[in-house]
Amino acid sequence: MPEYTLKLRRYSPESGEPAYWEEFTADLDGHRSVLDGILQIRDREDGSIGIRHSCRAAICGSCGVSINGRPGLACHMHLEEAQKRAERDGGVITVEPMGNMPVLKDLIVDMDAVHWKKMQRVTPWLIPEGEHPEREYIVPKEAMVDVTQTMACIQCGACVSHCLSMEVDPLFIGPAALAKAYRFVGDPRDGQQFERLRDLSEDPHGIYDCTHCFNCIEACPKGVAPMSQIMRLRRIAGSDHGIEDRNNGHRHENAFVKNIERNGLLHEADLLPDSYGGKFHPRAVPELLSSLPIALRGLQRGKITPKKALLHEHKAPQEVKDIFQRVHGHDTRFELNLYVSGKDEEQSGEQDNHDIVEGAQAHGTPSSSSAERSPNSV
Ligand code: SF4
Ligand code: SF4
Ligand code: FES
Repeated sequence: MPEYTLKLRRYSPESGEPAYWEEFTADLDGHRSVLDGILQIRDREDGSIGIRHSCRAAICGSCGVSINGRPGLACHMHLEEAQKRAERDGGVITVEPMGNMPVLKDLIVDMDAVHWKKMQRVTPWLIPEGEHPEREYIVPKEAMVDVTQTMACIQCGACVSHCLSMEVDPLFIGPAALAKAYRFVGDPRDGQQFERLRDLSEDPHGIYDCTHCFNCIEACPKGVAPMSQIMRLRRIAGSDHGIEDRNNGHRHENAFVKNIERNGLLHEADLLPDSYGGKFHPRAVPELLSSLPIALRGLQRGKITPKKALLHEHKAPQEVKDIFQRVHGHDTRFELNLYVSGKDEEQSGEQDNHDIVEGAQAHGTPSSSSAERSPNSV
């Protein structure tokens, strides 16, 4: 039987001692999971090892940990795969509690203190408008396909653990809760689309607090792609509802796009004034003044030159202009829900699946406001 070395981060608050590492050996087939390894060690060597688990089948979301620095489900990682990934660490499988949440004991984090609190923040239930229909709400299939991806979340917290913005700003609502917010924003039965989006835009720790680091997409074991859901929230808030948040997030995002459209490459010196309405806009003046010390330091250190700061010689090449023209030329926003997939060759045998994909492509992101959508008509 192959042997695997597991190095576990131990912490027991009652002891008053700081956290420490402890190495153990598990002898199991390589296709058994890291969770199986930890449970064997707990059975044989130390019954006090703390780890939360239940289904052992990547369904319940309770065994979230960090394995060699990457968050994931302990029951969803084969020992042999974990060992391969740990090559840089001499094949030692290092398991520690997830990040961005307080540790309760060993590998168990306090999900209530962070994850569930943030989940509550986004009002994770439907708020229908108007009279309830006599029978059930009838929802178009494509509208449900659109939110399927977010419904796949098993609340494991892996994305929260890996979120860079949350590390800097613990108040950030975070990837899991914002993905959950899309589940209701994208549901045509909900009557509060605008209110939800305004709230999440205006909150300084809301949708514009994400820095597009992609970590949550990489971490999620269920393909929820929280960052993509956050971007969809932003697009509906900014483009469909014209919500201009006081954090300047929407204007800043637009300034980026216009900057690239104009220059092909980002011209940083224009970005700040553009984000505040242009160099001479009253909103931009205090911002420009407050950034002067940084600009002066950059000049002193030779990081920028007056020529570079004032002139940007790069102009967008035709290829970039063509991309913008093509995007602007679309009548409706095109968004492909990548979670539900089908192949042409499946057409004959699995027509339903193919239809679903077609529906998702055609539907894109719901762009009508909740006011235009009567719950009775959906
Ligand atoms: S993409 Fe945004 S939400 Fe996702 S981990 Fe990065 S900062 Fe957090
Ligand atoms: S979005 Fe993915 S990583 Fe985040 S809690 Fe849900 S299932 Fe886990
Ligand atoms: S034990 Fe349920 S997801 Fe791992």
